[in-house]
Amino acid sequence: MNTKPADQPLFETRLKQSAVETETLLMRLLSSQALEDEIARPENLTAAMRHGTLNGGKRLRPFLVIESAALFGGERETALRIGAALECLHCYSLIHDDLPAMDDDDLRRGQPTVHKAFDEAVAILAGDSLLTYAFDIISARETQLDAESKIQLISALARAAGVGGMAGGQALDLAAEKTAPDEAGIRTLQAMKTGALLRFACEAGPVIAGASDDDRKRLKLFGEKIGLAFQLADDLLDVTSDAATLGKAAGKDAGRGKGTLVGLHGMDWAEKTLNALTVEAVDLLAPYGEKAEILQQAARFVANRQS
Ligand code: IPE
Ligand code: IPE
Ligand code: MG
Ligand code: MG
Ligand code: MG
Repeated sequence: MNTKPADQPLFETRLKQSAVETETLLMRLLSSQALEDEIARPENLTAAMRHGTLNGGKRLRPFLVIESAALFGGERETALRIGAALECLHCYSLIHDDLPAMDDDDLRRGQPTVHKAFDEAVAILAGDSLLTYAFDIISARETQLDAESKIQLISALARAAGVGGMAGGQALDLAAEKTAPDEAGIRTLQAMKTGALLRFACEAGPVIAGASDDDRKRLKLFGEKIGLAFQLADDLLDVTSDAATLGKAAGKDAGRGKGTLVGLHGMDWAEKTLNALTVEAVDLLAPYGEKAEILQQAARFVANRQS
C-alpha cells in the first residue's frame, strides 16, 4: 500500500463541505438565545465561545465523525450534530491549552487567543461552557438517535476527554516540561492529549450507524493510528513551519522542553514513522474497499498537512 498524497480534489471538496455544514450548525448552536431550561446566555461569554469556535480550523474531527458514519450508512444529520459536539469540546481544549498557565500562546487560527481577545477568566469559562455543551448537544432531543447509542457516545466522549484521556494527557504534557519522559511516556501522553479525541471521532461513526462491534474496534484502531500521526505531524510542523502558515506560534516545543518524539528521535525518524503509521492506518480500512477511500485519504492528509 503506498502513501501517495491525498487525492486533493475529492478529499478537499468533502472536507470543505463538511466544514461548511459544521460551521452553519455551530453558528446556530452558539447563538445568544437561551435554550429551554437555560436561564440566560451572557453576551460576553457567548461571544468568547464563538471566538474560540467559529474562527477557522480544519474541522478534521467533525469530518472524521461524518465520514466514519457514512461508511456504515449512518444518518448525516445525526453525524453532523455529534461532529459539532466534538468540535465544541476540541475548541475548549484549545482555549485552555493556550492559557498562560498552560502553553501561554497569543495566536490561534491566525487570531488572538480567547484570553487575549477577552480575558483569562472569560477564556476559562468559555472552555467550561463548550465542554458542557458538547454533552448537551449529544443528549438533546434534536439529536436523532436511540437512547442506548447516545449513552455509548456520551460515555466514550467522557472517557476520551477526561482524566484518562485529553485532560489527563495535558497534565502529563505539562509535567513533561519539568521531567523528561521516556519514549513510552511520550507515546502515552500523546495518545491521551491528542489521540483520544481523534479516536473518538472515528469510533463515533460506527456507533451512530449501529455497525458491528468489530467495525467499531477497527475504526477505533484506525483512530489511534491517525491520532499518533496527527501529533507527530503537529510536532514536526512546530519545527519546520512558521506562524504565518500555521496560524499559531511555531518553534515553541523545544524551548518549553515539551516531550515530543521529534525531540527524542529527530526529524528523519519522525518522518519515517509518520509514513509507517499512514500505511498501517490505510491498510486497516482495506476490508471496506472503495467505500473507505475518503477515510484513507484523511489518513494521508493527517501525515502530509501543512497546517
Ligand atoms: C491542534 O489541533 C491541537 C492538536 C491536537 C495538535 P488541530 O490542528 O486540529 O487544530 P484546528 O482545529 O485545525 O485549529
Ligand atoms: C495540544 O497539543 C493538545 C490539546 C489537547 C489541545 P499542542 O499544545 O501541541 O497543540 P498546539 O500546537 O498548541 O495546537
Ligand atoms: Mg499543549
Ligand atoms: Mg499548545
Ligand atoms: Mg503543537
